[in-house]
Amino acid sequence: MTKILLVGVDDKTALSLREAVAQRKEYVIDRCKAEEAQILIERSKPGIIFLNIARPEVSRLHLLQTFKRDARDVPVIVIAERVSTSLAIKAMKEGAFDYVIKPLDKTQLRALLEKLARTRQKAPSKPALELEEDMEGETVFIGEHPEMLEIYKLIGRVAPTDVPVLIQGETGTGKELVAQEIHRHSLRGHKRLLAVNCAAIPETLLESELFGHEAGAFTGAMGRRKGKFEQADGGTIFLDEVTDMSPATQSKVLRVLEQQEFERLGGAETIKVDIRIITATNRSLVKCMQEGGFRVDLFYRLRGAFICLPPLRSRGEDVCLIAEYFLRQFSEKTKKNIKSLHPRTVKKLKEYSWKGNIRELRNVIQTAVIFCHGEVLLPEHIFLEEEIVDSGEIQDDCQQMFTRMIEPLFDKLRVSEEGHLYQQLTSALERALIQITMEKVGKNQVKAAQLLGVSRNTLRDRLKKFGLS
Ligand SMILES: Nc1ncnc2c1ncn2[C@@H]1O[C@H](COP(=O)(O)OP(=O)(O)OP(=O)(O)O)[C@@H](O)[C@H]1O
Ligand SMILES: [Mg+2]
Repeated sequence: MTKILLVGVDDKTALSLREAVAQRKEYVIDRCKAEEAQILIERSKPGIIFLNIARPEVSRLHLLQTFKRDARDVPVIVIAERVSTSLAIKAMKEGAFDYVIKPLDKTQLRALLEKLARTRQKAPSKPALELEEDMEGETVFIGEHPEMLEIYKLIGRVAPTDVPVLIQGETGTGKELVAQEIHRHSLRGHKRLLAVNCAAIPETLLESELFGHEAGAFTGAMGRRKGKFEQADGGTIFLDEVTDMSPATQSKVLRVLEQQEFERLGGAETIKVDIRIITATNRSLVKCMQEGGFRVDLFYRLRGAFICLPPLRSRGEDVCLIAEYFLRQFSEKTKKNIKSLHPRTVKKLKEYSWKGNIRELRNVIQTAVIFCHGEVLLPEHIFLEEEIVDSGEIQDDCQQMFTRMIEPLFDKLRVSEEGHLYQQLTSALERALIQITMEKVGKNQVKAAQLLGVSRNTLRDRLKKFGLS
């Protein structure tokens, strides 16, 4: 027999739950007010607790800590009125079994109870952590899309651990923001979070940036310099665009992950650090591994937890919520009184593809606010980057051009290259493309890789293969 205790739960939700377990003899339901919860938990020893948290009564989150102290192994399901980023993160961080939003119907509740039953055999949850006194500095994330809610919960779950986290997502989807939130909610939150963008730093300098160097380690290395890993000791390091690390740097990072140690460039002393590593990429790391540029063992070490941020275009209503948030921000900043988005503006925003995601939306709203003088933001205030050339057209053009080129040569090639035709032609095309790109960007590998949309390791590999380096 499992006792379910409903703490501060409203009638409607309680009724749904009663319906959900109506045929099930193994459950009994008990209800109490928040103030009575502690006594009831002691007295009736519930097996499951549902804790209702109504905003702004966030103080009820403190109850969760009490429950976790007094009845550590009892799963607590937090019920909230609406999606709140900080509540979701904090609830999960405090050890809640799940965080769910009203209204809850009986099917949902049944699924939840089944999930609970499946996981009940698991090891007892960890002791509760110190709960922060206030809920300040909250809501950095705007958005209520179900996929985002799962991400907030995951942030709460992984933050207090030292597990390395890999964040993947298109540009501007909020990868850095996620890294900041994980750090802020971690036990290292009071220590430093240092970010290094591996794509923005020339390959030769990246190693010294990360691991530091001794005087004379290379030309120009005047004195000893501490690297980011040493500077962030005790805290977190955020490695952005991690696919751009050279193989040598990758193996050093792997060593830090495994042994928390490294040497400065040109140094013999082994430096020990206590560091958490969070990484991000806007490429598929799996693809980078398949292409051979990224170490498989490092990938698995980095991906202790994996967060994949959805693009803005697939987040439905979030586009409007985030647009309204930026609208309020910029309207206040510029001392205007713009109150809302016109329905046609909403439509325009929802239909757009947002390749630059939230960053692009932010910029678009910032500009729109300049042009708006009334209380409503109109579609004519929204300037979207028009797709200048349709990529479908480019493909058609290219295909026609290649057909014209290959056709006259085909019979000759057929004889000379039999069995290798595909390989020979595609690699000739690849070589030409890489050569032209490198010339156009002044031989800057970072820019060339960006333009081609391949990782720097892939580019390096091809340059070597084609004898272009
Ligand atoms: N859910 C959100 N709510 C409000 N602002 C957001 C949200 N997500 C991202 N932002 C804002 O959008 C901008 C871009 O976010 P961020 O820099 O974290 O993206 P990114 O994925 O790291 O981008 P890039 O790949 O280009 O480095 C920042 O100004 C950030 O504060
Ligand atoms: Mg970023």
